[in-house]
Amino acid sequence: MNKKTTTKNDTSELNRRDFLKMGASALSLLAVLEVGGASLLFMQPRSLEGEFGGTVNAGPVDSFPTSSVTHFPDGRFFLIHTETGGFLAVYQRCTHLGCTVNWEPDQNRFFCPCHASAFDIHGDVQNPPAPRALDTFAITVEEGQVIVNTGAIQTRDEFAPEQLAYAG
Ligand code: FES
Repeated sequence: MNKKTTTKNDTSELNRRDFLKMGASALSLLAVLEVGGASLLFMQPRSLEGEFGGTVNAGPVDSFPTSSVTHFPDGRFFLIHTETGGFLAVYQRCTHLGCTVNWEPDQNRFFCPCHASAFDIHGDVQNPPAPRALDTFAITVEEGQVIVNTGAIQTRDEFAPEQLAYAG
């Protein structure tokens, strides 16, 4: 005859085992929820407003004197207000191998420290090896504010007056 006798010790052993199993299951569930939650946060679309890849409000039209160049490092562009009153936003990335150019006000030019390319105030090549003018971003003027769309890079061979945006 097959007979199983349960003693008090067996019962407490069983309870301890059940308790450990339940604890392990709860920890596993918690880990799954954490990974799932983190994944959902990661997959949420990020607002790029105000930084490179999104639209940047550069500020009021009146805050940029003519013949001025203003750097927006977060947007990765320079805003140029030309002597004719037109605006141009040029990408800070050199068209040679992609280094960041600097504006040199005393020389009235953009200069690339990597291989010495130089560009004039419109982003046109003054000195190679850069093969073409600095890229640009579209500008709109809305309610007196200069808005630059850094979400789409516009390539060009050279500057043309049609690339300038005017207020009003
Ligand atoms: S990356 Fe600018 S000159 Fe080469």
